[in-house]
Amino acid sequence: MIGRLNHVAIAVPDLAAAAASYKDTLGATVSAPEPIPAHGVTVVFVTLPNTKIELVHPLGEKSPIAGFLEKNPAGGIHHICYEVADILAARDQLKAKGMRVLGDGEPRIGAHGKPILFLHPKDMQGALVEIEQA
Ligand code: CO
Repeated sequence: MIGRLNHVAIAVPDLAAAAASYKDTLGATVSAPEPIPAHGVTVVFVTLPNTKIELVHPLGEKSPIAGFLEKNPAGGIHHICYEVADILAARDQLKAKGMRVLGDGEPRIGAHGKPILFLHPKDMQGALVEIEQA
């Protein structure tokens, strides 16, 4: 079921500094900051040859990553995203095996315009895992 690693998301307290570090220090290709109000984040996409890194920074009052940055003021890995071919089939298979899907269990449209779901970190070795229909 599990496919490619689509991205690793890193929550950062200073988006410009994080983008500069990937661009100037590591020599990566980075996008301009992209506000995604529906998700409460501003994202800089870092394109690597085999995957993407997303530098995410809170946007607005109720950002889902605000609490994470309070606990991790220097930033940190927030989630990893794996691709699946069919998100509803993947969800049903995972739930049948006892995995908890966050929210109401219905896929929503993620930062890339594709359906996504998140799995409970306690069921995934402490890592927040996103699945995205590729
Ligand atoms: Co993501």
